[in-house]
Amino acid sequence: MSIHKLIDSLSSQGWYVWDDFLTLSDTQKIKQCIPNTLQDARIGHRDSLQSNKAVRGDQTVWLEPEMGTPIAFYMEKMEEIRQALNCQLYLGLRDFETHFCRYPNGGFYKKHVDNPKGAGRRKVTTVLYMNELWKLGDGGELVVFDKEDNHLFKLEPLAGRMIFFMSEEFPHEVLPTEQKRESIAGWFLTEKIL
Ligand code: OGA
Ligand code: MN
Repeated sequence: MSIHKLIDSLSSQGWYVWDDFLTLSDTQKIKQCIPNTLQDARIGHRDSLQSNKAVRGDQTVWLEPEMGTPIAFYMEKMEEIRQALNCQLYLGLRDFETHFCRYPNGGFYKKHVDNPKGAGRRKVTTVLYMNELWKLGDGGELVVFDKEDNHLFKLEPLAGRMIFFMSEEFPHEVLPTEQKRESIAGWFLTEKIL
Protein backbone atom coordinates (compact mmCIF):
# COMPACT_ATOMS: atom_id res chain seq x y z
CA MET A 1 0.00 0.00 0.00
CA SER A 2 1.61 3.20 -1.02
CA ILE A 3 1.23 6.30 -3.07
CA HIS A 4 3.24 4.66 -5.87
CA LYS A 5 0.79 1.79 -6.08
CA LEU A 6 -2.09 4.26 -6.02
CA ILE A 7 -0.61 6.10 -9.00
CA ASP A 8 0.14 2.89 -10.92
CA SER A 9 -3.33 1.44 -10.31
CA LEU A 10 -5.26 4.62 -11.00
CA SER A 11 -3.49 5.04 -14.34
CA SER A 12 -3.70 1.37 -15.39
CA GLN A 13 -7.13 0.29 -14.09
CA GLY A 14 -8.77 3.48 -12.85
CA TRP A 15 -9.22 2.40 -9.21
CA TYR A 16 -7.24 1.40 -6.14
CA VAL A 17 -8.03 0.05 -2.68
CA TRP A 18 -5.64 1.31 0.02
CA ASP A 19 -6.03 -0.78 3.18
CA ASP A 20 -4.89 0.83 6.43
CA PHE A 21 -4.84 4.28 4.86
CA LEU A 22 -5.60 5.44 8.42
CA THR A 23 -5.18 3.59 11.71
CA LEU A 24 -8.13 2.63 13.92
CA SER A 25 -7.04 5.31 16.35
CA ASP A 26 -7.15 7.90 13.52
CA THR A 27 -10.66 6.89 12.42
CA GLN A 28 -11.91 6.95 16.02
CA LYS A 29 -10.41 10.39 16.61
CA ILE A 30 -12.02 11.70 13.41
CA LYS A 31 -15.43 10.42 14.51
CA GLN A 32 -15.09 12.28 17.81
CA CYS A 33 -14.84 15.56 15.82
CA ILE A 34 -18.00 14.99 13.78
CA PRO A 35 -20.86 17.30 14.78
CA ASN A 36 -23.94 15.61 16.23
CA THR A 37 -26.38 16.98 13.70
CA LEU A 38 -26.06 15.64 10.18
CA GLN A 39 -28.35 16.42 7.23
CA ASP A 40 -30.26 14.10 4.93
CA ALA A 41 -27.99 13.37 1.99
CA ARG A 42 -28.78 14.90 -1.35
CA ILE A 43 -27.81 14.03 -4.89
CA GLY A 44 -25.42 16.00 -7.03
CA HIS A 45 -22.77 18.54 -6.31
CA ARG A 46 -22.87 20.57 -3.12
CA ASP A 47 -24.02 23.65 -5.06
CA SER A 48 -26.84 22.00 -7.04
CA LEU A 49 -28.46 19.51 -4.76
CA GLN A 50 -31.64 17.47 -4.97
CA SER A 51 -33.12 15.49 -2.14
CA ASN A 52 -34.02 11.88 -2.92
CA LYS A 53 -34.58 9.33 -0.21
CA ALA A 54 -35.45 6.57 -2.70
CA VAL A 55 -31.89 6.70 -4.01
CA ARG A 56 -29.84 7.14 -0.84
CA GLY A 57 -30.60 6.96 2.85
CA ASP A 58 -27.53 8.42 4.48
CA GLN A 59 -26.97 11.62 6.40
CA THR A 60 -23.95 13.80 5.78
CA VAL A 61 -21.93 16.76 6.94
CA TRP A 62 -19.29 18.60 4.88
CA LEU A 63 -15.88 18.51 6.56
CA GLU A 64 -13.63 21.48 7.29
CA PRO A 65 -10.16 21.42 8.90
CA GLU A 66 -11.49 23.71 11.66
CA MET A 67 -13.58 20.81 12.99
CA GLY A 68 -10.48 19.38 14.66
CA THR A 69 -6.89 18.26 14.30
CA PRO A 70 -7.76 14.68 13.23
CA ILE A 71 -9.88 16.03 10.36
CA ALA A 72 -7.19 18.54 9.42
CA PHE A 73 -4.68 15.64 9.41
CA TYR A 74 -6.88 13.63 7.01
CA MET A 75 -7.32 16.66 4.74
CA GLU A 76 -3.56 17.29 4.71
CA LYS A 77 -2.97 13.70 3.62
CA MET A 78 -5.48 14.17 0.83
CA GLU A 79 -3.73 17.40 -0.22
CA GLU A 80 -0.43 15.48 -0.52
CA ILE A 81 -2.19 12.93 -2.68
CA ARG A 82 -3.75 15.65 -4.83
CA GLN A 83 -0.31 17.07 -5.53
CA ALA A 84 1.18 13.65 -6.28
CA LEU A 85 -1.64 12.80 -8.70
CA ASN A 86 -1.12 16.10 -10.48
CA CYS A 87 2.65 15.67 -10.73
CA GLN A 88 2.55 12.06 -11.88
CA LEU A 89 -0.70 11.76 -13.84
CA TYR A 90 -1.39 15.37 -14.88
CA LEU A 91 -4.98 15.11 -13.67
CA GLY A 92 -5.30 18.88 -13.14
CA LEU A 93 -6.93 18.49 -9.73
CA ARG A 94 -7.55 21.92 -8.23
CA ASP A 95 -9.52 21.21 -5.05
CA PHE A 96 -11.00 18.55 -2.74
CA GLU A 97 -14.47 18.41 -1.21
CA THR A 98 -15.31 15.84 1.42
CA HIS A 99 -18.18 14.84 3.66
CA PHE A 100 -18.82 12.40 6.46
CA CYS A 101 -21.71 9.97 5.77
CA ARG A 102 -23.78 7.93 8.18
CA TYR A 103 -26.19 5.25 6.93
CA PRO A 104 -28.69 4.04 9.51
CA ASN A 105 -29.62 0.37 9.73
CA GLY A 106 -31.40 -0.38 6.41
CA GLY A 107 -29.66 2.47 4.56
CA PHE A 108 -28.36 2.05 1.01
CA TYR A 109 -27.29 4.08 -2.02
CA LYS A 110 -28.56 2.84 -5.36
CA LYS A 111 -26.29 2.39 -8.37
CA HIS A 112 -25.03 5.73 -9.68
CA VAL A 113 -22.06 7.48 -11.26
CA ASP A 114 -20.49 10.33 -9.28
CA ASN A 115 -19.79 12.38 -12.40
CA PRO A 116 -22.13 11.18 -15.17
CA LYS A 117 -20.74 11.81 -18.70
CA GLY A 118 -17.89 13.82 -17.19
CA ALA A 119 -20.18 16.85 -17.03
CA GLY A 120 -19.20 17.93 -13.51
CA ARG A 121 -15.95 18.83 -11.85
CA ARG A 122 -15.50 15.63 -9.86
CA LYS A 123 -12.52 13.75 -11.30
CA VAL A 124 -11.41 11.24 -8.64
CA THR A 125 -13.70 9.78 -5.95
CA THR A 126 -12.35 8.65 -2.58
CA VAL A 127 -14.22 6.78 0.14
CA LEU A 128 -12.66 6.14 3.55
CA TYR A 129 -14.45 3.61 5.75
CA MET A 130 -14.92 4.09 9.47
CA ASN A 131 -16.51 0.85 10.73
CA GLU A 132 -14.18 -0.70 13.32
CA LEU A 133 -16.65 -3.48 14.17
CA TRP A 134 -17.82 -4.45 10.66
CA LYS A 135 -18.21 -8.20 10.13
CA LEU A 136 -19.53 -10.48 7.38
CA GLY A 137 -23.32 -10.26 7.31
CA ASP A 138 -23.45 -6.61 8.36
CA GLY A 139 -24.02 -5.57 4.71
CA GLY A 140 -23.24 -2.10 3.43
CA GLU A 141 -20.64 -3.35 0.97
CA LEU A 142 -19.67 -1.12 -1.95
CA VAL A 143 -20.28 -2.82 -5.32
CA VAL A 144 -18.30 -1.44 -8.25
CA PHE A 145 -19.11 -1.92 -11.95
CA ASP A 146 -17.24 -1.03 -15.12
CA LYS A 147 -18.47 1.30 -17.87
CA GLU A 148 -20.37 -1.58 -19.51
CA ASP A 149 -22.05 -2.35 -16.18
CA ASN A 150 -20.10 -5.56 -15.64
CA HIS A 151 -19.68 -6.36 -11.93
CA LEU A 152 -16.05 -5.73 -10.95
CA PHE A 153 -15.84 -6.31 -7.21
CA LYS A 154 -17.51 -5.94 -3.83
CA LEU A 155 -15.72 -4.14 -1.00
CA GLU A 156 -16.29 -4.48 2.74
CA PRO A 157 -16.46 -1.06 4.49
CA LEU A 158 -13.63 -1.84 6.93
CA ALA A 159 -12.22 0.93 9.11
CA GLY A 160 -9.11 2.58 7.75
CA ARG A 161 -9.61 1.31 4.19
CA MET A 162 -9.86 3.82 1.37
CA ILE A 163 -10.96 3.31 -2.21
CA PHE A 164 -10.00 5.68 -5.03
CA PHE A 165 -11.64 5.57 -8.47
CA MET A 166 -12.09 7.79 -11.51
CA SER A 167 -15.43 9.51 -10.89
CA GLU A 168 -16.71 9.26 -14.47
CA GLU A 169 -15.92 5.63 -15.12
CA PHE A 170 -17.31 3.41 -12.39
CA PRO A 171 -20.98 2.99 -11.57
CA HIS A 172 -21.26 1.83 -7.95
CA GLU A 173 -23.79 1.17 -5.24
CA VAL A 174 -23.95 0.71 -1.48
CA LEU A 175 -25.81 -2.47 -0.51
CA PRO A 176 -28.36 -2.19 2.30
CA THR A 177 -26.57 -2.12 5.62
CA GLU A 178 -27.72 -4.10 8.65
CA GLN A 179 -25.77 -1.87 11.03
CA LYS A 180 -24.98 1.81 11.29
CA ARG A 181 -22.40 2.44 8.54
CA GLU A 182 -19.99 5.36 8.54
CA SER A 183 -17.67 6.61 5.81
CA ILE A 184 -16.03 9.75 4.49
CA ALA A 185 -16.52 10.35 0.79
CA GLY A 186 -14.33 12.85 -1.05
CA TRP A 187 -13.86 14.16 -4.56
CA PHE A 188 -10.82 15.72 -6.18
CA LEU A 189 -12.17 18.49 -8.40
CA THR A 190 -10.97 20.01 -11.65
CA GLU A 191 -12.09 23.45 -10.47
CA LYS A 192 -11.63 25.38 -7.26
CA ILE A 193 -14.56 25.57 -4.85
CA LEU A 194 -15.37 29.26 -4.60
C1 OGA B 1 -21.06 8.37 -2.56
C2 OGA B 1 -20.86 6.91 -2.53
C3 OGA B 1 -19.97 4.97 -1.44
C4 OGA B 1 -19.67 4.39 -0.10
O1 OGA B 1 -21.10 8.99 -1.48
O2 OGA B 1 -21.19 8.92 -3.68
O3 OGA B 1 -21.07 6.30 -3.54
O4 OGA B 1 -19.15 3.27 -0.09
N1 OGA B 1 -20.39 6.32 -1.41
O5 OGA B 1 -19.95 5.02 0.92
MN1 MN C 1 -20.94 7.59 -5.28
